[in-house]
Amino acid sequence: MRPYPLVVLVVLLLASACAGAPPPVPGADTGSADPVLVLGRDVWGRSCASCHAPDGSGGRGPSIRAVEDRFIDIQDQLTVVEDGRGGMPGFRSRYSTAEIEAVVRYTREVL
Ligand code: HEC
Repeated sequence: MRPYPLVVLVVLLLASACAGAPPPVPGADTGSADPVLVLGRDVWGRSCASCHAPDGSGGRGPSIRAVEDRFIDIQDQLTVVEDGRGGMPGFRSRYSTAEIEAVVRYTREVL
């Protein structure tokens, strides 16, 4: 067997193992990004991406892509993140209301 396909395989496995950073907030490159969404991305990267994947496509926790279609009322989504549900811990004691609102807005508006 030629070594080349093996090298490609190893590189692909490494790339998927460190799936990377959460998607940037629009305008981040020009300095015009909504600071609330920037805060939300920070919280997402620190506390949510490990279970839901950096891009929200899911892993240990479900995909939260198009999450705004399942939580028409943002308040219901805030409650899940504050109180937890099933295998997901609540974040009320860890983050302020403003931080939780920021990460929920990030999932609805950027992911
Ligand atoms: C330890 C893993 C874990 C972490 C960390 C985690 N989640 Fe979850 N999350 C889950 C699991 C598991 C579920 C499914 C809960 C259920 O079955 O009811 C879930 C469900 C959700 C849902 C509901 C999805 C839906 O469509 O009903 C949202 C929204 C959510 N998580 C957001 C977040 C946010 C925001 C954070 C970070 C502040 C976070 N999660 C951190 C595991 C996690």
